[in-house]
Amino acid sequence: MSDAKTVKLVDESNATQSELPLISGTLGPACVDIGTLYKDTGHFTYDPGYGSTASTKSAITYIDGDKGVLLYRGYPIEQLAEKSNFLETSYLLLNGELPNKTQFEAFEHDITHHTMIPESLTSFLNGFHRNAHPMAMLAGSIASLSAFYHDELNVDDPADRKLAAIRLIAKMPTIAAAIHRYSVDRQQRYPRNNLEYVTRFLHMMFEVPSEPLELNPVAAKALDLLFILHADHEQNASTSTVRLVGSTGANPYASIAAGITALWGPAHGGANEAVLKQLEEIGSPDNVETAVKRAKDKNDSFRLMGFGHRVYKNFDPRAKIIREMCHKVLNELGVKDPLLDVALKLEEAALKDEYFVERKLYPNVDFYSGLIYKALGIPTEMFTVMFAIARTSGWIAHWIEQHETPGSRIGRPRQIYTGADVRDYTAADKR
Ligand code: ACO
Repeated sequence: MSDAKTVKLVDESNATQSELPLISGTLGPACVDIGTLYKDTGHFTYDPGYGSTASTKSAITYIDGDKGVLLYRGYPIEQLAEKSNFLETSYLLLNGELPNKTQFEAFEHDITHHTMIPESLTSFLNGFHRNAHPMAMLAGSIASLSAFYHDELNVDDPADRKLAAIRLIAKMPTIAAAIHRYSVDRQQRYPRNNLEYVTRFLHMMFEVPSEPLELNPVAAKALDLLFILHADHEQNASTSTVRLVGSTGANPYASIAAGITALWGPAHGGANEAVLKQLEEIGSPDNVETAVKRAKDKNDSFRLMGFGHRVYKNFDPRAKIIREMCHKVLNELGVKDPLLDVALKLEEAALKDEYFVERKLYPNVDFYSGLIYKALGIPTEMFTVMFAIARTSGWIAHWIEQHETPGSRIGRPRQIYTGADVRDYTAADKR
């Protein structure tokens, strides 16, 4: 949509003036369209970290960071968290509308019947060291799917794109569980298709041949909720990575594998693992004050993990929901985790500290999620893999949207060059 409004740009360097059109979406601030700026003025724009840059138009997810609003396809996250389930939410992200009963059953059937992974993928995992980080194994395994399904990688074919989406959402839990079992030297479990998505995953993770697995329903409920909350988050670092790689025409598995590697970083999805490790390091509510002091010290690289967000400057609506679920899970599973006391004290101390208040730093989605994963018996190194299972729906929805958008171009940012001016090569004996 174009507003027919413009922004004037006065260029004092050569006394010219240009009019830049404003583009508005359904919600959110209008954007200055700088698409022809270089052609018109000879200037680039400079925005490291993309704090003021919209990289694409998208109809999938909307965030209002000042009000703490998150919508998937227009539906508030609070309503989806209360009433939906992860598979229904995935359908919504992919298709734009909530499914009716028949549509949901067909989608669930498709997902359920693509849960198996090739046996040679399991052999491929055997090549890793047992102590390899699960995210390294995940990125490698997902990229390798392009080798297993190379006949159905036509990115211009809607049927191939849809099949890749189904395969990725279906196989991600199977691969994640296989990685966990390989790490702890347990025999792989096949997916049991009489179970629903999250319960099937928990069975693959924890079932042993010698006795039936007794699952508290709160475990599946909590994991399903975490998956809904992590399913998408508009143009975050990993989704932007998926889109950038996708813009080159790379296949879906390669694009999603790139997203996985971006998610791994502690400033992004790797924060859930980092939060738990940090809470363990802090160790006791008595040490919280020292941790807060260190986080404020500009000469110390220490940051409070699970705090702060590029977009949310009021609160992260997902953190509110997860905090509540965390208490419920620990209560219902009868888990007394002393780290919860450390987390509560840390949150309380930070929320009333001037440094955090001034900078609008609030607990984000990952502050409490690790405590839930831990209560469910998921090892710390697997936390970011959990995030990746959920975010796969969002990544592939964005990848498909990108391919359905006419006129998409390869992503190719420019730079401000700060290196040496042009100079002549000097022979080795003259240097
Ligand atoms: N602890 C202490 N200080 C912080 C923190 C923190 N967690 N986060 C930001 N700050 C400070 C910065 O030092 C900076 O201070 P200054 O203005 O005095 O220089 C100010 O707050 C703004 O921080 P930026 O780094 O510029 O904010 P940015 O938007 O670039 O980064 C990020 C956001 C990466 C999430 C950051 O807040 C952070 O590192 N948080 C900890 C890691 C984390 O929890 N990541 C998960 C994010 S959610 C997700 O990706 C799923």
